[in-house]
Amino acid sequence: MKVLAADFVTSAARAEGIPRDDVPRIALAGRSNVGKSSLLNALCRSKIARTSAAPGKTRLLNFYRLTVEGGLGQAGTWRVYLVDLPGYGYARGGESAAAELAAVSEAYFYDDRASRLTRASAVLHLVDARHPDMVSDQEAAGWLAGLGLVRHLVATKIDKLSRSERVKNLRTLETTFAMPALPVSAASGEGMDELWRTIARLARTAQ
Ligand code: GTP
Ligand code: MG
Repeated sequence: MKVLAADFVTSAARAEGIPRDDVPRIALAGRSNVGKSSLLNALCRSKIARTSAAPGKTRLLNFYRLTVEGGLGQAGTWRVYLVDLPGYGYARGGESAAAELAAVSEAYFYDDRASRLTRASAVLHLVDARHPDMVSDQEAAGWLAGLGLVRHLVATKIDKLSRSERVKNLRTLETTFAMPALPVSAASGEGMDELWRTIARLARTAQ
């Protein structure tokens, strides 16, 4: 698989700003600072998304459109939107991560449902491999599950773990979220090929 083009398309705060075409969309959801933007850059192999050590800076949905060659089991190019959702776990004052995630991404998910693009949507739920049992991630997972979309769990920053921590934390993730987690690292590139295969599969099913 080869990324032929990666373009920032738009930032949207509400439903009106969301692109409406039949390119499949895959959202990246996760806690602030989990590494959503870094993963996007690693997938695009360019510094397209802004990353930051200060979490919760942006409250917008950022749309990136990728043109990819190969990977669908057939020749030719295909396109996909990767949507960088605002991170949760940032709000002060006891608001649950589910409520927070709902507030920032409801327009995206619910508009999606109502539109003809329903089948095109899937979510990559990113969790920090170092913190496999955070309540905020579990709340968010519950909310995402309620949407009834295809979900995949992705364990970020896996490069920061020792071999034994890695085994232990991936096991905890699997029991906590009742699904396996794909270990990735934007820093080392680990898991990128596998993640691309997942994205290609999701995009193909959506077409
Ligand atoms: P928000 O936009 O605030 O929600 O954060 P985000 O989820 O987009 O996180 P971002 O990609 O900005 O990364 C946050 C911090 O984690 C940055 O300092 C990154 O350099 C670091 N980081 C991200 N991915 C990795 C990784 O795979 N390995 C390591 N070691 N650090 C990472
Ligand atoms: Mg970000």
